[in-house]
Amino acid sequence: MTLRVLITSGPTREPLDPVRYLTNASSGAMGFALAAEARRRGAKVTVVCGPVSLPAPKGVRVIPVVTALQMHRETLRRSRGADIVIGAAAVSDWRPAGFSSKKLKRSPSSVSLTLVPNPDIIKDAAARRVPGQVFVGFALETHRAAAYARQKLVRKGLDLVVANGPATLASGSIRATLVSRDGLKRLANAPKPRVARAILDEASRLLERRTA
Ligand code: C5P
Repeated sequence: MTLRVLITSGPTREPLDPVRYLTNASSGAMGFALAAEARRRGAKVTVVCGPVSLPAPKGVRVIPVVTALQMHRETLRRSRGADIVIGAAAVSDWRPAGFSSKKLKRSPSSVSLTLVPNPDIIKDAAARRVPGQVFVGFALETHRAAAYARQKLVRKGLDLVVANGPATLASGSIRATLVSRDGLKRLANAPKPRVARAILDEASRLLERRTA
């Protein structure tokens, strides 16, 4: 049977008014590297993707979204139909509490923003898992990455967490550690397509065990 892989990728953009938004520096490169590798292996691949400037890999279905709430809806709508679900998106942790349909006026005084938390997409998808599925998340940390990744594995109900450092965001390569319930696998610093292969090897191994 054809393997079905669902990937979230890129940043999200949280609007404040028609011309301003909160976002982050994610390029979407890791999500697209995973999508290209899954496609190369013959999988049916869907990427729920925030605003990115990179071209999507060929043969992959892209569902474009802007905000975390849209990404949440489009991912949860599809997650139960996938064998492997990978949360590679850098989802904004918060969004402005309100949206002003008129451009906010400049003022000489300081301005405070109220931010409200966004839902955790990969956690909510994993909570709705059907038997046999494998869920993969990322943990970008400035220190103690493997330890935090292990906590995320448990807290979010994931099967595999890819721990990495902030250098990943601006770079074509990534130094990653794969954390599963079986333990740690430290990978050498390598281009994202190469790391995508290692992640999919590990996810496929976990999937085989789940479905055996
Ligand atoms: O908690 P943290 O943001 O470090 O977790 C990172 C992992 O969780 C990534 O896989 C990311 O795509 C996913 N995530 C998510 N929804 C959020 C926050 C993170 O799916 N709101």
